[in-house]
Amino acid sequence: SSPSVIVVGGAGYIGSHVCKAFAQQGILPITFDNLSTGHNHAVKWGPLIEVDLCDRATIFEEIEKHSHVPLVVHLASSIEVGFGEKHPDSFYMNNVVGALNLLDAMKNSSINKIIFSSTCATYGEISNLPINEKEVQSPYSVYGKTKLAIEHMLQSYHKAFDLNYVTLRYFNAAGADESGEIGEEHDPETHLIPLALASAAGLRQRMKIFGNDYDTPNGTCIRDYIHVNDIAQAHLLSWDKLQNGLTKAELNIGTGKGYSNLEILKTVEKVTGLPMPYDIEPRRDGDLSQLYADTSRAQSVLGFEAKYSDLDFIVRTAWRFFKSKHQI
Ligand code: UFG
Repeated sequence: SSPSVIVVGGAGYIGSHVCKAFAQQGILPITFDNLSTGHNHAVKWGPLIEVDLCDRATIFEEIEKHSHVPLVVHLASSIEVGFGEKHPDSFYMNNVVGALNLLDAMKNSSINKIIFSSTCATYGEISNLPINEKEVQSPYSVYGKTKLAIEHMLQSYHKAFDLNYVTLRYFNAAGADESGEIGEEHDPETHLIPLALASAAGLRQRMKIFGNDYDTPNGTCIRDYIHVNDIAQAHLLSWDKLQNGLTKAELNIGTGKGYSNLEILKTVEKVTGLPMPYDIEPRRDGDLSQLYADTSRAQSVLGFEAKYSDLDFIVRTAWRFFKSKHQI
């Protein structure tokens, strides 16, 4: 039978792009998702199994049914940073307990390979830029703390139970598949690019830029925007390496280049051809001034290089998806 992969969170923004990339390589993606934030309509390339990671008994059952699958990709998690600060109980339950249940179900079924979605938010404020994987991880947000706790679980399960893993620390995922059929549709949306597109389209208020008094050239925060299909490719490369003897790795997945919030607004203005008025607001709690990746380890371990992450292309594909979704 043809190879397959379990994609936990396959109905989400990044998960759906990962599923498409696997399917294009002839690997059947089997989505596990509770559809709490993901979308049924984004699962197009394989079956959907509706299951919640916090339901330990059902996760054990479903993973056992699929114990012939060699590898799990785990992207399901709570990601809304502000919500996590107010509801850490919900974040630790969903992210940490959910991951624990998944790893235990894998152990029970002898599936011993996993690719895990982590984040640059596990680092905290780093003055040494670009950020290298050897930096101390001292996350500021509850979100980053739950992701780091899972990274530690993987390391411990690797040592004790021979679980092999690749942890991908994504920088800022952005853009959409060129087809326009899948893209970013969070509710509520909190991310800069989709909000700016909605403002430009007149579907929401003027943009608010959170702070212009950071220690950066124009005072606004700097982020490393990586196209979601580059992230998807990093999963294919990780799959290949894990199938061929790689036992563990922690890797930054970014472009190495940072853009300020004002540069993003300018690009949105240029791509959409629409005016992009904005107001400067106070800083948002939990934001760090500059985050961009040292990408050399992902390059040497995976042969990974961002190919789709030109900022114009990111915004163009995000805009195409936005227009098709809103029938503009
Ligand atoms: N921003 C604004 N106005 C807005 C929205 C965002 O100025 O209306 C600014 C933010 O303050 C920040 C930048 O745009 O300076 C980027 O913010 P995003 O919310 O788009 O993304 P983050 O950098 O906060 O991303 C973080 C983590 C990711 C994680 C994500 C989860 O770095 O790893 O939150 O949602 F996945």
